[in-house]
Amino acid sequence: MTEFIPRAAAPVIKVADVAYVRFARRDLGRAERYFLDFGLRLSVRTDNAIYLRGVLPQHHYVIVERAERDAFAALGLRAASPADLRALAAAHATQVQPADEPGGGERVRLQDPAGLAVEVVHGMEQLPQLPYRAPRVINLPGEKRRRNAPQPATPGPAEVFRLGHVVLQRQEFARNANWYVRNFGLIASDVELLPSTTEPLIAFLRCDRGADPADHHSVVIAFGPEDAFDHAAFETLDLDAVGLGAEWLQRQGWIKSWGVERHILGSQIFCYHYDPSGFAVEHYADGDVFDADAPTRYHQGGVSGLYAWGPDLPRHFIDTGMSPRRLANVVRGLRSREEFTLARLLAAKRAYGAKARPWAGRPFRKPRPD
Ligand SMILES: [Fe+2]
Repeated sequence: MTEFIPRAAAPVIKVADVAYVRFARRDLGRAERYFLDFGLRLSVRTDNAIYLRGVLPQHHYVIVERAERDAFAALGLRAASPADLRALAAAHATQVQPADEPGGGERVRLQDPAGLAVEVVHGMEQLPQLPYRAPRVINLPGEKRRRNAPQPATPGPAEVFRLGHVVLQRQEFARNANWYVRNFGLIASDVELLPSTTEPLIAFLRCDRGADPADHHSVVIAFGPEDAFDHAAFETLDLDAVGLGAEWLQRQGWIKSWGVERHILGSQIFCYHYDPSGFAVEHYADGDVFDADAPTRYHQGGVSGLYAWGPDLPRHFIDTGMSPRRLANVVRGLRSREEFTLARLLAAKRAYGAKARPWAGRPFRKPRPD
């Protein structure tokens, strides 16, 4: 079995951040309507693609391309310098190419061990930052800072600032996680261990920006029954943005998955939604940041650690069902992949198929006075 490396002594480069996600969609118009309701804004529309931006200046954080079938097409990462792009290209015996699409810049195209296209970019166009609402003024018990002024509850999409992180499910956890750690200098902030064997099976990886803090996780690699996109998360301003953003999406007829809650690892206030193709996207606010000195922490894996508070974890959130397609992928993985074993899969299913909260779904009678 491959051993997971939480931090590489000499990574090829240290990426600065995630850059974008590239989706392929049959219905481009529907995807555009969804992502505008989600809170992204149109940067550019071409005949076969849309480029969506946030409040921050980067030209785009989401690309949706017209395609024959819906898919997660590529993960974009942002290199810190043109020299890093060259070093990465040399290490993989490939070339730095001009990014021949709106937003420009240069990039190196790689494939991760599961075959996902990973595009490392530098020099994307920066647009003027967009205006956004003022942060909430919060009244505290001994400190009332808001007087004669109710909290506004303005309906509308959450203002998305930027792409924050991408979570990938992989049949081979260590092989994939190590690839991201060694190539891009990512550091494991937190690692979840399989309770029965203490093998690592989820790594929350952050960027190494030295003394400058980085998001608790920019890329997450999680062991799972197939190689799949799990979700992409987008940063919003605050709790009200996450809550009001969820209201807005549902009012437009879109489907909420789970939230509003607060995560434990990373501390984000979050809400998950399904885009029209069933791909999960997350709004979050108030996430942790760590500099390069913070050590990796290890935890027993399981669903109870997914959230500190909020509505109970719904059954659909961790999908352990076996569709014919998934079954075929599992069989193929068991035959061909060293790290992917039935014992591991069943142990993970036990740990993550359990009830997150003992009281969830328990019937109750309203207490009455004696
Ligand atoms: Fe997330």
